[in-house]
Amino acid sequence: MSRVAVFPGSFDPMTNAHLDVARRAATLFDRLVIGVLNNPRKSPLFSVDERIAQITEAVSEFGQNVEVAGFDGLTVDFARRNQAGFIVRGLRAVSDFEAELQMAHTNRRLQRGVDTVFLMSALEFGYLSSTLAKEVAQFGGEIGEMVPPPVRSALEARFRT
Ligand code: PNS
Repeated sequence: MSRVAVFPGSFDPMTNAHLDVARRAATLFDRLVIGVLNNPRKSPLFSVDERIAQITEAVSEFGQNVEVAGFDGLTVDFARRNQAGFIVRGLRAVSDFEAELQMAHTNRRLQRGVDTVFLMSALEFGYLSSTLAKEVAQFGGEIGEMVPPPVRSALEARFRT
């Protein structure tokens, strides 16, 4: 039986912390579907299509078992559509835990057959967030260690004056 996981997120944009979690999850599951949430309540910097293109390029060397897709609505429905039994999330620090615990319990309430698997973010990326990377890029700071190359190019292009 193949083990399928989804890795949902806003990924606006994907950081090296997300990428590290995706790389490790790809070795744990037979198929990993990275899901980019189309959230109408947020005004993202990048469209879902732009984020999908950036992530697809960033994960291109991870192997054939990694896919990238956009989704609307509930993560558990996205998991079900992909026949996934697992949701992957990264934990950077204790401060992430409470919200993640709440999400994991909610998702399990919604869909008994889907379990959340947490991977600890790599230590060197524990400080990183998409918001931080965007802010540094906006003010011309160096983001090469924060985000994968396609995201760096996209951020630099977006904030070029
Ligand atoms: O990258 P983020 O913003 O931390 O990701 C949050 C995400 C997309 C995983 C979460 O907001 C989510 O699952 N949204 C879809 C709506 C949903 O399923 N809500 C109920 C479970 S919290």
